[in-house]
Amino acid sequence: MARILITSAIPYINGIKHLGNLVGSQLPADLFARYMRARGHEVMFICATDEHGTPAELAAAKAGKPVADYCAEMHEVQAEIARGFRLSFDHFGRSSSQRNHQLTQHFAGALDAAGLIQEVSEKQVFSIDDNRFLPDRYITGTCPNCGNTSARGDQCEECTKQLDPTDLINPRSSISGSTNLEVRETKHLYLRQRSLRGKLESWIDSKTDWPILTTSIAKKWLNDGDGLQDRGITRDLHWGIPVKKGDQPWPGMEGKVFYVWFDAPIEYIAGTAEWADAHGLPDAAWERWWRTDKGAADVTYYQFMGKDNVPFHTLSFPATIIGSGEPWKLVDYLKSFNYLNYDGGQFSTSKGRGVFMDQALSILPADYWRWWLLSHAPESADSEFTWENFQISVNKDLADVLGNLVSRVTKFATSKFGSTIPAAGEFGPQETALIADLGSRIKDYAQLMEAMEVRKAANELRAIWVIGNEYLQSAAPWTVVKTDPDRAQAMIRLALNLIRVYAILSRPFIPDAAATMMAAMGSDDWSWPDTISEAMRALPAGHGFAVPENLFRKITDEERADWQQKFSGVRD
Ligand code: MF3
Ligand code: ZN
Repeated sequence: MARILITSAIPYINGIKHLGNLVGSQLPADLFARYMRARGHEVMFICATDEHGTPAELAAAKAGKPVADYCAEMHEVQAEIARGFRLSFDHFGRSSSQRNHQLTQHFAGALDAAGLIQEVSEKQVFSIDDNRFLPDRYITGTCPNCGNTSARGDQCEECTKQLDPTDLINPRSSISGSTNLEVRETKHLYLRQRSLRGKLESWIDSKTDWPILTTSIAKKWLNDGDGLQDRGITRDLHWGIPVKKGDQPWPGMEGKVFYVWFDAPIEYIAGTAEWADAHGLPDAAWERWWRTDKGAADVTYYQFMGKDNVPFHTLSFPATIIGSGEPWKLVDYLKSFNYLNYDGGQFSTSKGRGVFMDQALSILPADYWRWWLLSHAPESADSEFTWENFQISVNKDLADVLGNLVSRVTKFATSKFGSTIPAAGEFGPQETALIADLGSRIKDYAQLMEAMEVRKAANELRAIWVIGNEYLQSAAPWTVVKTDPDRAQAMIRLALNLIRVYAILSRPFIPDAAATMMAAMGSDDWSWPDTISEAMRALPAGHGFAVPENLFRKITDEERADWQQKFSGVRD
């Protein structure tokens, strides 16, 4: 039994995430966590909401709420939706927790003690009417290069020129529109990442088994001219973690907070501490997942995220950990994803384009979405959600193949032999062949799941469902029963056992359907079918079973057209 630590990139607090966000981090992390638990490993699966930063402040202001209240409410909203999707976090934490305050301040203190923090004085735009410093992207003005009148202070989206806010002609605050701006001097802490370059590089070079997507992004940032700059880890904002050295004040830094990207990944650790707190456990309980001097040396740590998050997890967060000089666990395997597109364009939170998590659950249960998303995970390239493709996958894989098998077998068995597993007959060559085929496919499936090859694993699972159907098709107990009822009983005994095995194998992808199948088989034995010939005989003759409610319904053409229409515009 191994110890497996899993974290998913933590979603921003402002707003509900779309399906593209879900498939790039939380959902595949959940798949992996469920699989590892199914194999009997000890799993700690942590996620949280990412609550600091200007977007959170502005969203709260827009909602007319104090930012702390807004975050508390949105955290609950996101937690509820996560439950709806059956995301099996051991803890869904908050980056604004006291635990994260303490740990973030602790890391800053340790980095300072290691000589890795530098104070830098810089000039920043202050909006007098907004009474705040404005981050570059919250300043709007005319681009000096192309004349676009709504260029942002970090970049002109028309001509793509990188800008400094002071380059803008007629600058104004994007928050209030005020032009009452001035440049003020302000002091910030910088993490001297450049001095950690050698250590980071040899650490990344040692990760020879990482996906190409992950290492290519990491290397690009490491080697490009502006890749590994020293980075500002503080901001002049009101909402955030106050800048301190451990629990000591930081002279000159009063009223400032840590930058959201500094504290967010530390929440992976803090979230585990929150988990311990929530269960009334001592610090040792979470430290054994994170401190290699306190038991975490035998933990394997997996991170899941979209590709835009990779630089922060391969360079910035490791710089925090390595720089601290303390024995914290570093990621062992980083699984990253490309983007999921939506019907000929991009999913977009800011534009409200695509299907958002709450909307998805309002039209169909979690399993339908989980299956489509995971079986189309954007691994080797970006992938695209279309309603046609969604309809085809659901109707074929879930309804025609899996759902139909379960319903046909249980109904036929009940009507011919009653509601216990029939006893007569023996398994013949056809059954033996199916069992052998299953055994080797389950091994392939397990290997793919272990390797986090999400799409390929889904393909293998589908193939496992298909061979069951093909067996029934050719064995045809519904015909055989007329001439050789004992043979038909043996076939049905096999098929009912197959349903239990399918429940176990399918559970990481479609947990609700799996639970229904297992319950219908009158069993709660989820042990992995390591020895398939035994697993296919686990439910003995005379064991009671039931006909489950319909597992999956088909999506009609009308529904598809209707949803396509409904989700073609933008959400406000
Ligand atoms: N909130 C970020 C995003 O959605 C992810 C943060 S992951 C962590 O892109 F590293 F900060 F935790
Ligand atoms: Zn321009």
